[in-house]
Amino acid sequence: MQEDHGHRWLRWPSDPTRARLGFGADYNPEQWPRHVWDEDMRAMRAAGANIVSLAIFSWARIQPSEDVWDFTWLDEVMDLLHGNGIAVDLATATASPPPWLTTLHPQILPVDHDGRTVWHGARQHWRPTSPVFREHALRLTRALAERYAGHPALAAWHVNNELGCHNVYDYSDDAAAAFRVWLRERYRTLEALNEAWATTFWSQGYSDWGQIIPPRIVTSHPNPTQQLDFKRFSSDALKEHLRAERDVLREVTPGIPVTTNFMVMGETKGMNYADWAAEIDFVANDHYVLPGPQSREELSFSANLTGNLAGGRPWYLMEHSTSAVNWQPVNVAKASGELARDSLTHVAHGADAVCFFQWRQSAAGAEKYHSAMVPHAGEDSAVFRAVVDLGARLRALDGVAGTSRTPARAAVVFDWESWWTAELDSHPTDRLRYRQEALDWYTALLNLGIRADVVPTSAPLERYDLLVAPILHVMPGALAERLRGYVAGGGHLVTTYFSGIVDEHDRVWLGGYPGALRDLLGIRIEEFAPLLDGQSVELDNGTTGTLWTDRIDLTDPATEVLAWYKTGEQTGRAAITRRQAGAGSAAYVSTRLGAAGLTTVLADLAAHAGVTGELPEPLRGHVELAVRGDYWFLINRTGTPLDTTAVTGERVGTAHQPLEPHGVQIVYRGAG
Ligand code: GLA
Repeated sequence: MQEDHGHRWLRWPSDPTRARLGFGADYNPEQWPRHVWDEDMRAMRAAGANIVSLAIFSWARIQPSEDVWDFTWLDEVMDLLHGNGIAVDLATATASPPPWLTTLHPQILPVDHDGRTVWHGARQHWRPTSPVFREHALRLTRALAERYAGHPALAAWHVNNELGCHNVYDYSDDAAAAFRVWLRERYRTLEALNEAWATTFWSQGYSDWGQIIPPRIVTSHPNPTQQLDFKRFSSDALKEHLRAERDVLREVTPGIPVTTNFMVMGETKGMNYADWAAEIDFVANDHYVLPGPQSREELSFSANLTGNLAGGRPWYLMEHSTSAVNWQPVNVAKASGELARDSLTHVAHGADAVCFFQWRQSAAGAEKYHSAMVPHAGEDSAVFRAVVDLGARLRALDGVAGTSRTPARAAVVFDWESWWTAELDSHPTDRLRYRQEALDWYTALLNLGIRADVVPTSAPLERYDLLVAPILHVMPGALAERLRGYVAGGGHLVTTYFSGIVDEHDRVWLGGYPGALRDLLGIRIEEFAPLLDGQSVELDNGTTGTLWTDRIDLTDPATEVLAWYKTGEQTGRAAITRRQAGAGSAAYVSTRLGAAGLTTVLADLAAHAGVTGELPEPLRGHVELAVRGDYWFLINRTGTPLDTTAVTGERVGTAHQPLEPHGVQIVYRGAG
């Protein structure tokens, strides 16, 4: 089914021939009296909004009971939007089942790890594997598709909403039954499953498929491979739901592209988006800035990864915030200028639409303190003025629409399976954070002014001169082979502690660590040596390690030591190594250095790979560079104005010098 659906961008109903950047929000008119809708249309036009996501949480309104349907209000909203030149990304409305449905069929409700039912009263209280839920969700999907198939406002379909945001792990009997089916497909025989799960350990051998259950509450550490397979299964179960709704939509409205909003951000890790991306016509993402010293590096990292999940092609920023959110412990408002900078950073990394949650800030309900395009204060507000300014700025960037990301020479590898597995329990340390390590490397690259892509392992890794693969823990034989081939072909691989340790069944590669990469790296480690909280070790290059160390033995004369441990148990031993192999090399960093330490270390590793910054020297590190074809995006990472005249080209939408603090300049470098 999916072969011919590589990438299809949404259609612009009012003028399908003109490329433009989308600008808009989630629109929830059902929360407001009718007269507000007219105000909304006027204000949307004032802001330059051209697309909204509609009906995301409208199930109870559309279908107030099993055989009662009410589309009249939605018909009116669709017509109103179209009349105002605003396209619609129409949701299938299946994200939050109405109380009548879960009361009638309580077996839809998820069951948590401890066996407790998760009730209605919030949202997304449905089992991904519930046949009853699936049937009702598809009925609604079909009803909407049939009703709006020919509607001129319909630009794209929005399946469900943030699949797995609250319900990725369900331990119900439905989940158990579906998990068994999934395992039978994967392993075929019980013998193969017992072998993969190493069930000789702790007398866990299964003699019948019916004995297998999700990793529910147990006395001690649950079987790690069972846990890993349950993570894979849970991601797949949601993917199946996505496919089921998508297939109905494609059947009824074959001309309308289908998407769903991913959550490539922070520690949201249950969905393997590298595996989902091919299922939809274009990739969409939701991103919210997380507090902390690397908040904007994290934004860039997420946008970059999203762009590469989309294969470098344009993607849709479905949601971010104009200012504060409501779900962090303390919800900080954005400072002046941050709204535009955040939005344009997503565009820099390939977003062709800039949308927010939500259009009008709710007056009531759980999200009433979440910012929106029109805040509680109304249109006479700094937020709305910033929204209007952004809309004008995006209109000047129509030329950017449709351009692909230009691949960098360096990349950071990001792997969901390693993320899941490296952070399982019963490990040398439970302090390891996979995504933070990857983010630290990415931050170091930004600090050095080196443009890098964040890519899944399925990406064409061979195209990169420098490949940073932090904590690449799960190393199936084929991946190890690819990495050997990469280095043999002249590539420069950099990897870290706890990489190359296990195969796809979480079984250790024997003979000394890092098992599958031992020979490539020219080192051997007999025992891990993690550090306690508060412990640190000094390296002779001036950096400081925490979290982890390794007792490294060099096994190949071609392995050089780039830094030695100066303090701690490993004093006098290698901390960072590099083995030259033909024109390529393989380097190993055995401790956690953090972004600052990695900046020191990477300067040498990148130079060795022949990779340097593309910006003029004085701007490197101060300015993030992202490239889409002929367009260079310059993002000021500092709090001071910067003179960027050394970067030649026409400024689009921003003619002025200098580049203001935390500002963004877009430079057109084509045409001479
Ligand atoms: C998610 C959801 C929205 C809203 C926002 C709030 O992105 O999709 O419905 O809850 O979070 O940040």
